Amino acid sequence: MPRRVVITGGGTGIGKATAARFVAQGCEVRIVGRRPEVLAQAAEQIRALGGSGTVLTHAGDMTEPDQVRGMVDSLDGQRVDVLVLNAGGSADLPQTASLEEIRDHWFTLLSKNLLSAVLPTEALLPQLNNPGRIVAVSSIASFTGNGAFHAYASAKGAMNTWVVGLARRLAPTGITINAVAPGYVPDTGFWVGRTPEFLATQAARPIPVGRPGTPQDIADAIAYFADENAGFVTGQTLNVSGGVVLARS
Ligand SMILES: NC(=O)c1ccc[n+]([C@@H]2O[C@H](COP(=O)([O-])OP(=O)(O)OC[C@H]3O[C@@H](n4cnc5c(N)ncnc54)[C@H](OP(=O)(O)O)[C@@H]3O)[C@@H](O)[C@H]2O)c1
Repeated sequence: MPRRVVITGGGTGIGKATAARFVAQGCEVRIVGRRPEVLAQAAEQIRALGGSGTVLTHAGDMTEPDQVRGMVDSLDGQRVDVLVLNAGGSADLPQTASLEEIRDHWFTLLSKNLLSAVLPTEALLPQLNNPGRIVAVSSIASFTGNGAFHAYASAKGAMNTWVVGLARRLAPTGITINAVAPGYVPDTGFWVGRTPEFLATQAARPIPVGRPGTPQDIADAIAYFADENAGFVTGQTLNVSGGVVLARS
């Protein structure tokens, strides 16, 4: 039986590279995101790579309970081996923002980065296999802060804490949960729409290994935590940042 994998945010960037990696290994992969046309295009590209697995798509917003239930229903009761909680993203807000704008910014980013992980996890838990693997995609920002208001970074920091708590709850069930915290990965939707000046400041930050990350770098780290043999590792957050945290300490 091929392992069954669900990847939120699987239509672009890190999620798409992760989906391609699992399909190459022969898995049945379901990519989830809000834009059906993006998912369909990603599935076509992944199939063209010719892996032995299969890729399916499901459109839904993972912050909306009904749409999360719709995603679970689309599995028709089938067991899931690996859940990758990769949906997320950031947004910029100037320091001059009003209190209302700051409140909306925080709610949006907490929802997009934290609830988008919590809701599909709680909904899919009854269908997760033993051994099951959950891998959340956090961020290096969870250790360093970022932007004027640190809402994105704080959402990812809360994700790291949630991973610890859930790991303890799930440990007796054979399900592990860990997080991967990427550094700068430019070839992703995450950086689309940012100003050239902002992108230049990111690119100029020193990365000890001497290059930015690739979606494949992050997919490889996710694959480690997702491995059936990684059952003795749970509740961890792994920096995959080319050593950036070392450089800032
Ligand atoms: N790129 C970096 O430098 C970097 C660094 C650290 C951490 N990360 C994290 O890595 C993860 C993947 O991001 P990426 O860099 O690959 O950027 P990306 O290409 O923008 O991927 C994010 C994906 O999440 C999906 N998504 C967003 N909100 C969603 C929702 N409510 N429900 C379902 N899907 C949703 C998006 O698709 P739709 O818009 O179609 O829904 C998109 O496919 C994110 O959690 C991000 O915070 C990225």
